[in-house]
Amino acid sequence: MVTMISIRRPISLVGIAFVFSTLVLYILAPNTIQRHNSATFSSSWGTSRYNPPATQNTSITSINDQKLHVLLPATRSNIHLCKTLLTMAILGYPNPTIVAWEDQDHADGLLGGGSHFAKITRTLDYLSDPERRKQDGFDDELVLMLDAYDIWFQLPPDVLLSRYRAVLEDDHARVAHRMGRAYANEGINSQVVFGAGKRCAPNLITSIACYPVPESPLPADIYGGNTDTAVGTSPWSSFRTRYLNSGYIMGPVGQVRRVLERALEKLEECQNRKAASFDDGSGRSDMCYHGSDQSIFVEMFGEQEFYREVMRRHHRSRVVDDVLDRVVPGRAGANPPPTHVEQVPVRDILEPAFTHQEYNKTHLPEKPYEFGIALDYWSLLGHQTSNAVTDARYILHDRRVSQQVKKLKKFDCVPKTDVFALPTDLPAELPLPWMAGSWPDLWEAMPLYTEVCIGTVPVMIHHNSVEKWQRERQWSETWWYGRARMLLEERRREGAEMLVKGLRTDRGSVLRWEHMCPKAAESELFGNEKV
Ligand SMILES: *[C@@H]1O[C@H](CO)[C@@H](O)[C@H](O)[C@H]1NC(C)=O
Ligand SMILES: *[C@@H]1O[C@H](CO)[C@@H](O)[C@H](O)[C@H]1NC(C)=O
Repeated sequence: MVTMISIRRPISLVGIAFVFSTLVLYILAPNTIQRHNSATFSSSWGTSRYNPPATQNTSITSINDQKLHVLLPATRSNIHLCKTLLTMAILGYPNPTIVAWEDQDHADGLLGGGSHFAKITRTLDYLSDPERRKQDGFDDELVLMLDAYDIWFQLPPDVLLSRYRAVLEDDHARVAHRMGRAYANEGINSQVVFGAGKRCAPNLITSIACYPVPESPLPADIYGGNTDTAVGTSPWSSFRTRYLNSGYIMGPVGQVRRVLERALEKLEECQNRKAASFDDGSGRSDMCYHGSDQSIFVEMFGEQEFYREVMRRHHRSRVVDDVLDRVVPGRAGANPPPTHVEQVPVRDILEPAFTHQEYNKTHLPEKPYEFGIALDYWSLLGHQTSNAVTDARYILHDRRVSQQVKKLKKFDCVPKTDVFALPTDLPAELPLPWMAGSWPDLWEAMPLYTEVCIGTVPVMIHHNSVEKWQRERQWSETWWYGRARMLLEERRREGAEMLVKGLRTDRGSVLRWEHMCPKAAESELFGNEKV
């Protein structure tokens, strides 16, 4: 048989020998990243592990050892800011700094008179402050910047830290697998985590912000046959989380500063832009969608992903890798299968077949578009409620979901399981000091906001749904409702800075708790809870 072939086509034996020896070399090559990933990922490309990333002891850090700056861009106080602050106070978060307080800049034509602009510039001022930068290790301290009016915390800061590490571990494994050799060669190392949402918004789907973005790593069947289609309560409700949402950003100070510096450049560039070449004629994309900070970060993520694909290709050998892809399906760095943007196929993510915003495909060794941005796909840090209100429920983890959620509506996901185990990274030694006494002292006995489609319990609930009234309706469903006043008073006795001294602003003034959240707010915050 072999003789016959060698007589008829002597070249092919040489070819086979070449491929074989290369294959052996590749397999023997000490590429730990590829090894690590072939163990973590199932063999077919793009298939995700069904389970969320493990959150247990991922280099557990305590808030006592790791400095965390919490920045809240807020121009004024109202009941919604009070709710955010209250949840931070009772859980023992570091005292946040209020950024852009009473700020009034009137940039014409920009959203909220440029308040989105302030979110970027004033946060950047904080991170770039010369006095802070003089302090040793400032750039490695963590910063969490979040929307002030629609985020509640339900788990303590130590969990936030371990979740942040879990998101990055998961991201490193997935991206290393996707990029193959390019991952190590280019030194990719994401550190800045953003929230994730279902819709590429407000950007146009034909823009760089949307078409190169990788598919979601979430299970492909969470909404049954409706998954990733427009069939649902809204045209986006059955999509898996995939796109960046800027409701919260967490990362090392130095890395977040780089991200914000670039965002500011883009914002300035937008202000001078008219009739952008990639606009759809609506003028919507000019000036970055009227100065929406979200649109800028979404675009930065799209650019990053576009150039990560450029890098992946750059570090492949066309002949060898193409052959090996056939021999070892789903190997690290393999050519990806087509993706879809709102159900429209994208066969080549650098050059989709539909009319799109063109980008230069040249490999750039200095990596100007690489910002180390990772997304919190599994809602380990926070859950975006936009197009996702029924994906999450306040449930007790010691009894069946079916007893607690009476009726599923037509398009609701079927909860992943009927009895959810508690997340393994909750503070193990209960009761925590503030849970002592006659109050239910176990997490099981607390209604935890749980993403029931995938089974995660987020640290933060980000009410970015258009159903803003959910912030009123859901407040009384939380575990702290009815005991919040007691917990707050306990924190005050402990001397919590936010309650005793007040909140600092980025300009050095101090805002007293009583002024931020006056008596008039109490009935909404505490319900009928007695003093
Ligand atoms: C994780 O934590 C558990 C419980 O504290 C412990 O039993 C286990 O050995 C730890 N695992 C690792 C890999 O550190
Ligand atoms: C793309 O960028 C490279 C490097 O900056 C440049 O040499 C090339 O001319 C560009 N190509 C196009 C089509 O603009």
